[in-house]
Amino acid sequence: MAKAMKYKTKDNSLSKVEDLFNPYNLGAKPFLKWAGGKGQLLGKFQELYPKALKQKKIKSFYEPFLGSGAVFFDVAQNYSIENAYLYDINEELVLTYQVIQRDVAKLLDFLYRYQKNYIKLDKQLRQQFFYDQRTNYNLQRFNIDYDKYSEQWFPRAAQLIFLNRTCFNGLYRVNQKGEFNSPVGDYENPTICDEKNLIAVHRVLQIAEIKKADFKELAKDVKANAFVYFDPPYRPISKTASFKAYSKQEFDDDEQIELATLFKKLDKKGIQVMLSNSDPKNSDPSDNFFDTVYSGYHITRVPARRMINADATKRGAINEIVVTNYSLS
Ligand SMILES: C[S@@+](CC[C@H](N)C(=O)[O-])C[C@H]1O[C@@H](n2cnc3c(N)ncnc32)[C@H](O)[C@@H]1O
Repeated sequence: MAKAMKYKTKDNSLSKVEDLFNPYNLGAKPFLKWAGGKGQLLGKFQELYPKALKQKKIKSFYEPFLGSGAVFFDVAQNYSIENAYLYDINEELVLTYQVIQRDVAKLLDFLYRYQKNYIKLDKQLRQQFFYDQRTNYNLQRFNIDYDKYSEQWFPRAAQLIFLNRTCFNGLYRVNQKGEFNSPVGDYENPTICDEKNLIAVHRVLQIAEIKKADFKELAKDVKANAFVYFDPPYRPISKTASFKAYSKQEFDDDEQIELATLFKKLDKKGIQVMLSNSDPKNSDPSDNFFDTVYSGYHITRVPARRMINADATKRGAINEIVVTNYSLS
């Protein structure tokens, strides 16, 4: 794991110097918009974190369904964790995190160029530029070695950030073939190169080990005195509202049950575990799937807003279900 860089402020004021040496409160936030992103729920989640985390007694944090990492950025900057283990099965996402962690300056060079070239275009040329990039992104995926860090990774990560910032609803979505297929968005002035945030993200990521992995790998990795947060793909709230397009792989009820088995295994080891999902009762009050699978654990329902439906009229209030293996009192 790389060590955080040391910086000196212009006026040398002690508090500012301390802030900059400190891995906390850098203001880093998710750099991608991601389906199921937990940014809107952090206030409520903070009440549901384990007491030992709030008392700064937990040093290791695991998030094996990383996505945009809203909970990681919150935990890493507000509690005294020393190590974070961040996994996701989406290789594009993991590549992008790894690039930011290793050499954010080089990535920023590519993003500056996107920003400069895109913003000056009129609407029609922006569309053409977007679709050219999307086609290139889909073709190039066969030429990338996702397991071996290389110079190729920088334009790849920049392209993902560009597409995420300029596509419709700003969401990453792939089809069955694994092709990114979100259409162009209509943002007047998208921030493609958010330098300040990306530098803050780079610094926060210095405590992290990031890898492309299936959540099941966690079983062999997890250390004692850890906090694990699971945010798997949503179990669809209705037969038609399924969003399982983070990657080609599906996440069905069998996977949800395998995850519950892992949850119970970690519980037996004394690890503090928190899991969230959409509440199936939102659409079918008699659906007790999670209440059954996690019976005996602490279940809280938290009001949320679902944002991923392309039809704005279908983005209403729903409950998120949160399961913890520790008491909340
Ligand atoms: C609901 S999202 C997580 C959102 C995240 N909490 C946030 O704030 O953005 C679920 C994530 O799990 C990943 N995923 C899907 N199946 C997986 C698996 N079997 N193992 C690990 N990650 C998986 C997806 O790529 C996606 O990024």
